[in-house]
Amino acid sequence: MKRRPVLVVNFGSQYVQLIARRIRELGVYSEIVHWDTLLEEIRGKEPYGLIFSGGPASVYSEDAPLPDPNIYDLGVPILGICYGLQVIAYQLGGKVEKSDHQEYGRARLRVIKRDTIFEGIPDEFDVWMSHADKVSDLPEGFETLAISDNSPHAVIASSDRRFYGFQFHPEVVHTAYGKELLANFVYGVCGAHRNWEMGDFIEEKVKEIRETVGDAHVIAALSGGVDSTVASVLVHRAIGDRLHCFFIDHGLLRLGEREEVEKNLRALGLPLKVVDASDLFLERLKGVEDPEEKRKIIGNTFIKVFEREARNVEGAEFLLQGTLYPDVVESAGIKGSAKIKTHHNVGGLPEKMHLKLLEPFRELFKDEVREIGKLLGIPTDILGRHPFPGPGLAIRILGEVNREDLEVLRKADSIFIEELKRNGFYDRIWQAFAVLLPIRSVGVMGDVRTYEKVIALRAVESTDGMTADWYRFPYDFLDHVMRRIINEVRGVGRVVYDVSSKPPSTIEWE
Ligand code: XMP
Repeated sequence: MKRRPVLVVNFGSQYVQLIARRIRELGVYSEIVHWDTLLEEIRGKEPYGLIFSGGPASVYSEDAPLPDPNIYDLGVPILGICYGLQVIAYQLGGKVEKSDHQEYGRARLRVIKRDTIFEGIPDEFDVWMSHADKVSDLPEGFETLAISDNSPHAVIASSDRRFYGFQFHPEVVHTAYGKELLANFVYGVCGAHRNWEMGDFIEEKVKEIRETVGDAHVIAALSGGVDSTVASVLVHRAIGDRLHCFFIDHGLLRLGEREEVEKNLRALGLPLKVVDASDLFLERLKGVEDPEEKRKIIGNTFIKVFEREARNVEGAEFLLQGTLYPDVVESAGIKGSAKIKTHHNVGGLPEKMHLKLLEPFRELFKDEVREIGKLLGIPTDILGRHPFPGPGLAIRILGEVNREDLEVLRKADSIFIEELKRNGFYDRIWQAFAVLLPIRSVGVMGDVRTYEKVIALRAVESTDGMTADWYRFPYDFLDHVMRRIINEVRGVGRVVYDVSSKPPSTIEWE
């Protein structure tokens, strides 16, 4: 079904996806388009309205991204945010200049002229600013609706043409009434109708998958994680047992993980084959220390094993992948290249086996996949699982991977996770795990000097894995986990807690 979207025009803002998510949360479909998308294409989407995102450029710089000026003649409402506002002001004949005072962070907004955009919102509230340039002269037909200490034109509008500009960011949580402002634009100004509900999405996708796949068969490699599980349940609902799921145990899983995943997936009724290829993976990893080399070996071996299994599926024409919208947007990038990130585990396989990709979640954000999972009846403990990297524990054992170290790491990791769940931390954390370091350290146990392995614990808060901060546990909790690990895991003599954020560090240690 074709849905009329609110289009977010991307000028390179770090918040571009957040804007689209906020619009969808309001119940209206939203898509992101690159700033130089042809007007023909934009018109073809019949957008309710356009939102020009922020961006790092200055409208006066030589390579400033500026849209085709005919965009203002489409008759479609436009909301410019930060750089987006400056683009509108500049292209329609106003003036933008460097501010004497840059404005970053919280600012007080004062409404000086009431308008539809402020419906249900008080005259003064806090907003989040982040800009160096500001509008100094308005274009013809525009007026100022609100000001802040450093922005004499913090909200501008040409209400008869339905053009609005905010110098601040309504999409971030620090802006009070941000959601209401966006709702006023989307519903009040654009006159949009509600057209985005996950229940409808499921019905439509099921129909679409049936049409796309026809009588063919679909194969899927499952990890037990959220995206591949929800995608498989959806496709299973559409085509039943013409879906063939494979769970490949590469020997680099966590304690009890294979059994748990198998139980979960079977309980969901998925046609599943579990393949134990751990000997092959561990054999190939013998003596390999370099993390990139490990990744390469694991990736290649995975493809080989999966291919061998999938060859036996008669009539297989599609490979199911849980690609999400951020992957699509990120890989398209601001430069407009259209390369889509292929799944690390099965990259190269579609070409090799002449398979077409089936990616039912290409338009969705992670929270939306979770919501679909909930509607499809998938238990919350599956939907709330922490992310786990494809190469598994191989990138959490620094240095060579062997069975003995895997066992040590598995035990330490499972104690940590068990305690996180028992103490109510698990669901507040994006990801937590143990890492085995490639060093030994001296200790004393009883009266004996020891020389044993070191475990590092990592726990981070994040919303998308792109940035992350270490989780502040109470000291007593860390103390308790340390004691359990050293007492219960033979061979570990020291436990450390990682207090690095991302950036500059990454989440995984590799
Ligand atoms: P980094 O370590 O780059 O990780 O900060 C960001 C997020 O990505 C996960 N990760 C992976 N996920 N296959 C995956 O499916 C991989 O090869 C992989 N490597 C890292 C990591 O666990 C974190 O959530």
